[in-house]
Amino acid sequence: MREELHDVRLRVNGTTHEVRVPARRLLSDALRHDLGLTGTHVGCEHGVCGACTILVDGAPARACLMLAVAAADLELTTVEGLTEEDGSLSPVQQAFVECHGLQCGFCTAGFLTTITAGLRDNPHPTHDEAREMVAGNLCRCTGYQNIVKAVERAAELGA
Ligand code: FES
Ligand code: FES
Repeated sequence: MREELHDVRLRVNGTTHEVRVPARRLLSDALRHDLGLTGTHVGCEHGVCGACTILVDGAPARACLMLAVAAADLELTTVEGLTEEDGSLSPVQQAFVECHGLQCGFCTAGFLTTITAGLRDNPHPTHDEAREMVAGNLCRCTGYQNIVKAVERAAELGA
């Protein structure tokens, strides 16, 4: 039996897209495969690793735990949408470069979106708050020290 398809309007990084997807299409898959926004990475697909974190109406959310049909008409921001309007790096991105906050980069998009939202809510985190900000995201390479430094540097840069 053929699966029924649904027309969904996805608003991503300020642009509206129309996609036709099965009801169970994950938002992470719709972003990557239907829209070609492969900056959002998929690790566990179970809501654990945080690699797929995007912003939904400004709040961090696991794109692997959302259905594309449930994201209709919400404001979605992926890592591709974090750069400044002139194409330059955002303060959080710049801080990652300066502090060597990544190695393989698989986890990075999820950290960037998470920290962008975290610093908007708490622009001047203490060291412990900076650690707490990234506690829900997994990184197998860096040991986290440079990611926490990047949070603190991004705060200095006025993220
Ligand atoms: Fe979504 Fe791991 S891929 S949390
Ligand atoms: Fe490799 Fe984080 S930089 S998983």
